Formats: sequence, structure tokens, C-alpha cells
Amino acid sequence: MDFKVEIAYLLEKVTQQPQQEIIGTIEVPPNKEMGDFAYPCFRLAKQFRKAPPLIAQELSEKIEKPNFIDSVKVQGAYLNFFVKKQVYAQEVLQEVLSKKENYGKSTVGEGKTIVIDYSSPNIAKPFHVGHLRSTVIGNALYHIFEKLGYRCEGINHLGDWGTQFGKLIVAYQKWGSKEAVEKDGIQELMRIYVKFHDEAEKAPQLEDEARGWFVKMQNGQEEALALWKWFYDISITEFDRVYDMLGVHFDAYTGESFYNDKMDAVVKELKEKNLLKESEGAMIVDLEEEKMPPCLIIRKDGGTLYATRDITAALYRKKTYHFDKCIYLTALDQNLHFAQWFAVIKKMGYDWWKDLIHVPFGLVSLDSGKLSTRHGNVVLMEELLNQAIAETKKIIEEKNPDLPNKEEVAKKVGIGAVIFNDLYNSRVKDVVFSWERMLNFDGETGPYVQYTHARACSILRRGQCTLPKNIDYTKLTDEASIEVLKLLGQFPEKIQEAADKLEPFIVTRHIVNLAQAFNKFYHDNSILNSEENTKQARIALVIAVKTVLSEGLAMLGIQAPEQM
Ligand code: ARG
Repeated sequence: MDFKVEIAYLLEKVTQQPQQEIIGTIEVPPNKEMGDFAYPCFRLAKQFRKAPPLIAQELSEKIEKPNFIDSVKVQGAYLNFFVKKQVYAQEVLQEVLSKKENYGKSTVGEGKTIVIDYSSPNIAKPFHVGHLRSTVIGNALYHIFEKLGYRCEGINHLGDWGTQFGKLIVAYQKWGSKEAVEKDGIQELMRIYVKFHDEAEKAPQLEDEARGWFVKMQNGQEEALALWKWFYDISITEFDRVYDMLGVHFDAYTGESFYNDKMDAVVKELKEKNLLKESEGAMIVDLEEEKMPPCLIIRKDGGTLYATRDITAALYRKKTYHFDKCIYLTALDQNLHFAQWFAVIKKMGYDWWKDLIHVPFGLVSLDSGKLSTRHGNVVLMEELLNQAIAETKKIIEEKNPDLPNKEEVAKKVGIGAVIFNDLYNSRVKDVVFSWERMLNFDGETGPYVQYTHARACSILRRGQCTLPKNIDYTKLTDEASIEVLKLLGQFPEKIQEAADKLEPFIVTRHIVNLAQAFNKFYHDNSILNSEENTKQARIALVIAVKTVLSEGLAMLGIQAPEQM
């Protein structure tokens, strides 16, 4: 039973409003004195030509109270519905326990495709904490949309083409060696890349040399391409190690270089549509009407740009995947870039330009300030994850030295803590790394939710519990149980809300709330030592909580160990 739908049905009869519209206005009140569901009557004032509180009063008298409603009360302009607690408990628990890990799944996305462009690090530069956010948020959105029935295509739009490779080739030839690159991989590539920038400040002609090499790459010159491919392979091997640690996978690794042979056609199309203009030797699309700087399509030296490849990629993806939405995860500082080339797609006459969505996020910072690749203030992702694991291991040694599979658990918890920290706030907020806060088992953290899940598992293990057959739902009407049930019941709508707003933190917060409510329930009630009917009902609740916590974590890309 969907209570909202049922209540909307009751209201439809007395208000003559369409049910769908009513569903949209029914609220879940912030505190329980206001009932389980509330219907605001403001909107009816025009139609009824009466003050909203009066309308609420009259409606409350007209409504025929069905069996599942305990009472309907008027508070100001609101009609507050109180659902019978045991009915509520029964509806929610039956739903969770019968659907198990499929609880919250829906079909709203059936037949629709979402392309998610995420992670997308730059080859030959290290995978740094800045890329963590794109990876983690993209991965969570992937799971969230999948849960809602969408077909997702996860794309890693690797930064594997562009003038930086010209710089890298120059740097390699001047200051690098085969042995050093083979030995230190990305680290060494980064070292020479940073050196290039330092040296180029003194000797600007290095930039011209670098551009020359990039032009060679574009013309398919063998030596240039061989070096590029070598840097590429080294980078991918290292990225994949990090993706494995994070448990992230992609459906395609079509990076910028994939579009090399596809850009000509797009440039031609821009020309034919009269959108290309010459400006200081370069080719641009003018965006004055849109009040933005022009979008650069071809450089003075003939080179293509980041935007040229993004435009080409979008056309390719539309043709290949027929997406309903294509979303891009990058830091806020790329807002203008996306706004510009989205505008170009619009000017080309493609109405699906509005299905291109940039999903920006804030920066990651350590105490030392913003992290940037170019000046070497980088924390390699792998190092960071390893540190998270090591810190977690210390805590486990202290709290639970006899735990079996300590290594395994430390990995799940340490990495989970990093992911959780990243997904805890609204995307645009900056993320600050603080080991102390992230790994606090009592805070609003990944380890806390994982620990609560492990606690539920431990109760079930100790009691050798199986799913009870007959549940007496009247045993779950105490305040603490009802609070847990409510949060369980809201899980599906939270998933939908997270998808609508493209905000995984809505799921993150929800499972923290559920974990907190469950811990209160656990604190207030004895479970295994209570009277048999009560015990069985409580066990059912524990099973449901365990299921939703582990599924909630899984959607965020976090594993849930059974013991920790
Ligand atoms: N490689 C870019 C960077 O590290 C991100 C690419 C995002 N995706 C895109 N289609 N532009 O900043």
C-alpha cells in the first residue's frame, strides 16, 4: 500500500482535484505531532472561495476515514493524517522483507538511457583527489539511476589528447629516460611535466616546441604517436588499480583521442551551418548573443580544443546511445566550458541540447589549500586510499584486535570512509579531508553506518535468527520502532529525490538517519531477550534495517562488512 496514493484518493473524492496533483502536494511533516502525512489547503482557496483553515476544517468533516487511518486532524491550513501504527509497520516491513535488496527499485526509467561522463582523468598526470569526486559521485549516480530502471552508460572521457602531450614529449626528450618512466610510471611523467612548466617560464620557446609535437601527433607522425601510446598505457594501468580499489567500472573508455577522426565532420557541419567565424587566426563560434565569450573550435596553429572534442563526443553519443540525458561530472571551474559548448549544440539546431547536463561539484582541499596537478601539490589517489586503509587498521587493532579478516575489513571501511565523506554534503560544497572526522566511528560517517550494519548482523548471528513467519505488528508501535520504520519506508522516495536532484548526498544522509534511529531502537529495546512475539517482530525489523543499510551503502559504492 502506498499511503500517499491512498490518502490522495480520499482527498480526490472531497476536493475534486486530480489525484496526481494531490500526490504532489502531500508532505511528510517534520515532526510527529503533525502526523505522518500532511495536506496543505492553500491552493484550494481560489476554488472554494474560503480561507484555507476553514477549508481544512470542512474537508476533515467530509473525509470518510478508512481502516488504515487512525485520525485526521486540522492544524491551521493543514490536514494532518495519522496512520495506524501497526498498519504502517506491516506495510513497510512486508515490502522490505519481500523485496530484499530490490527494495526501492522502480521502473520509472524503463526504456530510457542515461549517459554518465565521469572520472575522466588526464593521461600522464596523476589521478589526484580532485578526480576522486567525479569518480565517486558519478559512480553513485550510476547506481541510483540503475535502481530506478534506467539503462546507464558509464563513460570515462579520458583526457588523452591535447597540447599537454606535446609538452610531455618535449619534457621526456629533454629531462626523462625510459628507465625512469618504466620504474616510476605516472610519478615520473608528472615530475617531467612539472619541470616543463618551470622551465617554460624561463624559456617560452619550449611552448612552441611542444605545440609542434602535438601537431605531429595530430598528423599521425609515428614517433609522436608511439610516445603518446606509451604514456597512455602506463597511465591506464595505474588508473585501473585505483578503480579496482574503489570498485568502479566503466562501460566505455572513449577518451578525447577517440574523436580524432570524427572532428573534421563536425567542423564541416559548423561551417555549413554558418556558425564558424575567424578571429585572430583561430576559428570560433560567436556566443555574444548568449553573453558568453566565444567558443574556440580550432586554434591558430590548426589544433583542435577540449570543446571541439566535447561537441564531437556529444554528437557521437547521441547517435550511438540515443540518450535521454547525458550528464557530465566535473568541478565547478568548468561551468563556463560546458555552458559554452552546450550553446554551440543548440545553435547547431539540436533540440536535445537541453538533455546535456553539467553536474558540477566543489573542490577537495587539504589543510594546504586547493590541490593542483601542475605545481606538484598533489596527493596521489592510491596513496590516499592506502593511508585510509592504514588508519582504519590502527583503529581496528585498538577496538577489535581479534577480528577475523582484518585486512579485508580495513579495506572496505577505509575506502568506504573516503567515499562517504565525499558524498556526505551537497555536491557544490567543498570537501575537506580530515582523517579524524572521516574515520570517527561515532560521527556521521561511513564507518558509523557500516558499524551499525555490522551490529545488526551480529544480533542476527548471535540469535541464529531466520526470517520470522508470523509477525505481530502491534509489537512495533513504540516510538523508536516507528521512527526506524518511517525511515525504511522513505528509502524509495529518497532514491528518486537523489536522482531528480542529481545529489547522492540525499541517500547518504538518509542512511545516516536510519543508522541513528536503529541505534536508538537498539538502545531502548532488548531484542533477543524479549518475550517471543516481541522478539520475532524486532528480529524482522533488524533484518529490514540490515538490508536497507547494506543496499544504501552499495548504491554509494561502499561495501558493508558483516563484522568489524
Ligand atoms: N579531463 C577533464 C579534467 O580532468 C575532465 C573531462 C570531463 N568530461 C568532459 N566530457 N569534458 O578536467
